[in-house]
Amino acid sequence: MNKLTIIKPDDWHLHLRDSPYLEAVVRDSARQFGRAIIMPNLNPPVRSCADAMAYRKRIMAALADESDFEPLMTLYLTDNTSVEDIRAASKSTSIHGAKLYPAGATTNSDAGVTDLAKLAPVFEAMQDSGLMLQVHGESTASDVDVFDREKVFIDKSLQRIRADYPELRIVFEHITTKEAVDFVRAGDVNLAATITPHHLLINRNAIFQGGIRPHHYCLPIVKREHHRRALVEAAVSGETRFFSGTDSAPHSRVAKQSACGCAGIYSAHSALELYAEAFDELGDFTHFESFVSLNGAHFYRLPPNRDSVTLQRLQWTVPDSLPYPESCLIPFRAGETLNWKLIHDD
Ligand code: NCD
Ligand code: ZN
Repeated sequence: MNKLTIIKPDDWHLHLRDSPYLEAVVRDSARQFGRAIIMPNLNPPVRSCADAMAYRKRIMAALADESDFEPLMTLYLTDNTSVEDIRAASKSTSIHGAKLYPAGATTNSDAGVTDLAKLAPVFEAMQDSGLMLQVHGESTASDVDVFDREKVFIDKSLQRIRADYPELRIVFEHITTKEAVDFVRAGDVNLAATITPHHLLINRNAIFQGGIRPHHYCLPIVKREHHRRALVEAAVSGETRFFSGTDSAPHSRVAKQSACGCAGIYSAHSALELYAEAFDELGDFTHFESFVSLNGAHFYRLPPNRDSVTLQRLQWTVPDSLPYPESCLIPFRAGETLNWKLIHDD
C-alpha cells in the first residue's frame, strides 16, 4: 500500500485559539480537513451562541476565503450555562455541541464546571434537543494520580452521566486508556470517542526520554504502552464509534519550555500523515478512511465531505519549528522523518 485516496477527512477536536494565533495555525487544518469541531476554551471562553457566532466569523476572516474549510462551533459549559443557551445552540446550524471541562482539568478550564449535579437541567435539555456533549474526561480531585484521572472520571462521573441521561449523545474526547476504549465499546449508539495522533504514536516514556520533553506534555497525559496499543487497535478496527480528533493545541515555544510549561501538542501541520503513520504500525489501512472521514460525520449526523485527498508513502522531514506570535511553534515530531505525505487535495 503506497497510495491512499480517501474522502476528505474531518478533525472532530481542534484548538484554533484566537487572533493573532488563529491566523498562524488555521491553514494547517484547512489544508487537510473539510471540517473541524472547534474547541471553545478561549479566554474568556465561548459561552453563548453569540460568542460562538462571533468566533466563527473571526475564523472565516482568518481563512480569507482561501478554502472551503468549515468550522463547527461548540459552547463551553460553565456552572451558569442556561437551558436557554442549550435550546438556542441546538437550533443553530453552526453549533454542534457543548463541551464539558471539569474546572481545573486543563488549559483555560478555570471557568469550567465545578459540580456535575448543577448541570442537571442543562444535560436534560441537551438530551431532549440532541445537542452533543463533548467531554474532557478527567477527574480533577487533587488526590488522584495524574495517570489515573481518566479512569477515575469514567468510574465516578461518566458512568453516572450515562445512566442518568441514557439518550444524551456523548463524545468522550481524546481517550488515552484501555479502560476508555472498553467503556466506549460497551456503550451504545449514543457514545463515541475521538483519538489523537499523539496518543496513538507515543507512550509516557516519550515525556522523559533522555530528559524532560515539554513538547510531549499534553492533557490527558500520554499513558503506558498497553494503553497506546489498545488505542491503535480501536482506531484500526473500523468500529464506527471511534474517530479522528487531533486535539492539536498550539502553545508557543516559550510557553511550553518553561518552569511550568503549558499542556498541549501541536499536530495540525501533519495530522493526517501522523494518523497514517499510526495505522502503518499494524499495516492495515482497511478502515483508515472510516476512521478519519466517515465515522465522525456519521456520529455527528453530517454528510461525508465531497472532496478527496491523497496520501503517498514518501519520506519527508517535519520542520523544526513553525511561525507563531511571540516565539515559534514546535510541531509534534519536529525534525523527524514521517513516511506518509499528503500530496494533493481536489
Ligand atoms: C488543550 C489546550 O491547550 O487548549 N491542551 C491539551 O493538552 N490537550 C486543552 C485540552 O484539550 O485539554
Ligand atoms: Zn483539546
